[in-house]
Amino acid sequence: MGSRGFFCVFEGVDGSGKGTVISAVKNFLAAKGVSEEKVLLTAEPTSGFYGKKVRELLATSPRPDLNAKQFLDLYVADRKEHVEKVILPALLEGKIILCDRYKYSTFVYQSLQGIEVEKIRELHAGMPVPDLAIILDLPVETALERINSDSKRGGVDAFERKDFLEKVRRGFLDLPKVFPGEKISFVDASVPLAKVCEKVCSLIYGQLH
Ligand code: TYD
Repeated sequence: MGSRGFFCVFEGVDGSGKGTVISAVKNFLAAKGVSEEKVLLTAEPTSGFYGKKVRELLATSPRPDLNAKQFLDLYVADRKEHVEKVILPALLEGKIILCDRYKYSTFVYQSLQGIEVEKIRELHAGMPVPDLAIILDLPVETALERINSDSKRGGVDAFERKDFLEKVRRGFLDLPKVFPGEKISFVDASVPLAKVCEKVCSLIYGQLH
C-alpha cells in the first residue's frame, strides 16, 4: 500500500449485507494489527446537509422514477461534500477508507430513474476513483429476506421493491462495462454472511499487500 491510503467502496442492492461486511473488515484489520486511527468507516448518503435532504425525499417519494433530477442533484452534492471534507483528507493521511456506497450507486439507481449515464459521468469528473469496489451480489429474494428479518429497519422504502431491485442487481452486474478501467470485484453474497465477510476480508488483504 502506498502512502496515499486505500479507498475501498462497498456496493450492492439494499439488503446485500454491506453494513455487516464493513464491520467485519474493520475487525479483521484490527486483528491484523492495523491501528484504529488508520481505518475510516464512512457511508453515503452522509449525515450532512444534502444527505439529510436525500433521506427526507426517500421517505416521502412514493415512486423512485419521480423526482429523478432532484435525487441526482442531492446524491451528487452530498458526494462532493463527502469527497472534499472526508475522503480526500483521509486519503492524504494514508488511511484505509471503507465506504458504504459511492458513485456506483448513482450510476445504477439514478440511471434506472431515467438519467443518462453520460450526464452522471460528467457530474463525477475529478472525483477520486476507488482503489477497489466490492459489489455484493445476490438474488433479490435473498436480499428482501434479509431486509424483512432486520427488525432495526423500518418499512421497505421506495428503492426496495422487488422488480426495481432486480434491475438494480443487473445494473451493478453491468458496471464493468461502464468503467472498464476500474477495479470492480463481485462477491457472491447469497451464502451465509460469515462466509461473505471472510471472502471480502481476504480480497482486501490481498490488495493491501
Ligand atoms: P442506504 O443508506 O445505503 O440505504 P440502505 O441502508 O437501505 O441500504 O441508501 C439509501 C438509498 O439511496 C438506497 O436505496 C440506495 C439509494 N442511493 C441512490 O439511489 N443513489 C446514490 O448515489 C446512493 C449513494 C444511494
